[in-house]
Amino acid sequence: MLKIGILGLGEGRSTMSAALHSSKCELTMVCDRNLDMCKKRAEEFNFHSYTTEYDEMLNNPEIDLIAIYTPDHLHATHVKQALSAGKHVICTKPFIDDLSDAVELIQLSESTGKKVFIGQSSRFFEPAKRQRKDFEEGLIGDLITIEAQYHADHRWFLEKPWALEQAFKWLYGGLSHPVDFIRWYLPNVEEVMGYGMISANGQKAGLKNEDTMHFIFKATDGRIARVSGCYTGPTQPAQRDSGMSTILRGTGGASQADYHELRYAVTDKTGEEKIVVWGDSTLKYYFRFEGQSHHAGEYQNYLEYVADCLENGKTAYPDVKEGVGTVALLQAMDRTLKTGMPVKINDILAEFNISPDILKA
Ligand SMILES: NC(=O)c1ccc[n+]([C@@H]2O[C@H](COP(=O)([O-])OP(=O)(O)OC[C@H]3O[C@@H](n4cnc5c(N)ncnc54)[C@H](O)[C@@H]3O)[C@@H](O)[C@H]2O)c1
Repeated sequence: MLKIGILGLGEGRSTMSAALHSSKCELTMVCDRNLDMCKKRAEEFNFHSYTTEYDEMLNNPEIDLIAIYTPDHLHATHVKQALSAGKHVICTKPFIDDLSDAVELIQLSESTGKKVFIGQSSRFFEPAKRQRKDFEEGLIGDLITIEAQYHADHRWFLEKPWALEQAFKWLYGGLSHPVDFIRWYLPNVEEVMGYGMISANGQKAGLKNEDTMHFIFKATDGRIARVSGCYTGPTQPAQRDSGMSTILRGTGGASQADYHELRYAVTDKTGEEKIVVWGDSTLKYYFRFEGQSHHAGEYQNYLEYVADCLENGKTAYPDVKEGVGTVALLQAMDRTLKTGMPVKINDILAEFNISPDILKA
């Protein structure tokens, strides 16, 4: 049993549910600096081992791993503290929102021998898992191009105090999902360009950074990809579109994984078309509270994957290096929004003394 502590009980609520339902993990303690939040979760889950002091959780010798769900700009500090305290780490996406701490985080993980897994939850969703499996089994041949999007009406998120801070960027918070998919299939992206803007709705709310963005990517072998994200306007009906979708176009077929809709379609090398829609029991496993804005099932899947990897001495992916590679790409995307010019990922890495080998991780 992997003994877990959870930091940050907003989205950490999903991880509480995941850990409490899993036979591979034991929830040992949770922490939020907001006492009311601790009490709310204690009551919700009938789980009363909580603290408002992160140090108390760090100093608890029972805990093997700390799972971190604090606001994006605090992740680097909280991960460093956990590693220094001798704990393995799960850090939610986006891993970090700036590469300044990347080298230190990699070194700290190496020197302490403690693992960092990045909670790119979307990979652990049913349609994404099936798409990956079919791809690895060669059903669509070699990849030609990948298109990924995350479009959501997240105007509710603007109520959170940190959403309107300069530090909050949907580029990191939202696009880390589709960008992770791009890197999962096309790890060697070398250049990106794109445009972004703050929508009229975002401006009215006082948002500081882009909420509407489109990007294209080029890999070292010449293959291309695209990603888009729109967060402050209504979306299409789910029957017509998907909030988060990844399309793979291969030499012999194509596939599409639609995230919230639990829907997957593939045309394989023989020309056969298949559409899979998962039913109610799967839906209930993934979405346990508040409609589809929270999804504990993916978290349970990744908690159990991490538990298995740790038990068998394997690395759980995305690991710290893969996570840094994705953040480098996000940082290059941020740069192209500012300059209107294509940006090379290696130039960004060089600015932070990070070896370009990280992209091969
Ligand atoms: N699919 C996903 O993987 C997914 C989904 C949603 C959110 N997230 C991530 O989860 C993180 C948190 O997002 P959220 O929506 O829960 O935000 P939130 O603001 O609702 O919750 C953050 C919580 O962290 C607590 N906190 C802040 N600083 C703290 C500190 N120093 N010590 C202890 N507690 C502290 C706050 O009191 C708050 O309860 C973000 O990084 C977000 O990107 C991931």
